[in-house]
Amino acid sequence: MTAKIYEPMSRRTLLGTAAATAGLATAASIVPFGVAIGAQAKVRIGILLPYSGTYAMLGNAITDGLKLRLAEAGGKLGGRDVEFVIVDSQMSVPKAPQNTQKLIAKEKVDFLVGPVHSGIAAAMAKIVGRAGNPIMIVPNAGSNAVTGPLCASNIFRTSFSNWQPAYPGGKVMADDGHKTAVTIAWKYGAGIQMMAAGKSSFEKAGGKVVKDIQVPFPSVEFQANLSEIAALKPDAVFAFFSGGGAVKFVKDYAAAGLKEKIPLYGPGFLTEGVSMAQGAAAEGIKTTLHYADNLDNAANKAFRAGYKKMYGKEANVFSVQGYDTGSLLLIAMDAVKGDSGAKKAMIAAMEKAKIASPRGDISFSAAHNVVQDIYLRKVVKGHQNLMGVVAKQLADPARGCRLA
Ligand code: PHB
Repeated sequence: MTAKIYEPMSRRTLLGTAAATAGLATAASIVPFGVAIGAQAKVRIGILLPYSGTYAMLGNAITDGLKLRLAEAGGKLGGRDVEFVIVDSQMSVPKAPQNTQKLIAKEKVDFLVGPVHSGIAAAMAKIVGRAGNPIMIVPNAGSNAVTGPLCASNIFRTSFSNWQPAYPGGKVMADDGHKTAVTIAWKYGAGIQMMAAGKSSFEKAGGKVVKDIQVPFPSVEFQANLSEIAALKPDAVFAFFSGGGAVKFVKDYAAAGLKEKIPLYGPGFLTEGVSMAQGAAAEGIKTTLHYADNLDNAANKAFRAGYKKMYGKEANVFSVQGYDTGSLLLIAMDAVKGDSGAKKAMIAAMEKAKIASPRGDISFSAAHNVVQDIYLRKVVKGHQNLMGVVAKQLADPARGCRLA
């Protein structure tokens, strides 16, 4: 596997990616992508993920998971070598159309993998979702619209819709006996949609959301919001933050003296991949998500051991999503024996795919969104420990998708 990496990427990220690739055939660097005469062309995978800013950890974990899966399969897709063209999304929605066009028209990638951010996902889907364009696999961004009104035959999602992990979370809060809650999240697609989903199940179960606090993305200035929560005295708080912002929020929440008084809930992104950095502030937080560290299945045990061996760190849900994206690419390219032009046949194989994921068994809905179990987890000594299954094989409602 080789990689061409576009600037701007911080030197640290570049080195991080290089280190991540070091166990594979070639170290990541900017390499020419001409093909030796007689050699079969490499499969080109365009990656648009964040390698800087508050979601940098997510982008790196997804990339690492994807590379691990392909390495396990001998570094090839459908018998062909693989080449990555990596672009740092910088979490910029305005730059998303240009970045997407560059990967499609200039780089002529066979597949697109990305993004993390819901706003970028919607911008990408508007461009990608038409005949003739590459197959896109979303390895994180939950934008409901991507497998709703913007769904398309060449767009698949291996991660979640924003509704999926959040909806069961509202009921968990009600089942714990809480009657009132405040929701707090970054003000953009992901936060808005997750809070709406959590609120609907909480209120269906008899609870009442007394205030919906929206924080500009990606601000981490939470003091005024925390004072407001302290004054409102709800029974519980339901929150969405992720990556660097989640570290800050959970620590600030505890430092403000709220942790023991008003329990925090939310989709598991709140603690996922960051609970070690959050330390004592994260202990005991209950969240819902499509993964738990200690899921007792053979795929998860092998995956976590392989990830640790290759990268020297613990896996998280984002690396699982990257890993499963690799599995779906393998299914697509094996079905056509490496003929990446045979898109219809690849899509048919992807639609039928059943993957024994580290998260448990997954498949794909008519809208091309992943169907999966949702778990209740609790942070114990920095680990996301399984407490139970709150939704079995949950499919997104896919409202507005004409494929569904
Ligand atoms: C999103 O923008 O869709 C998003 C970002 C980070 C997460 C989850 C969802 O952890």
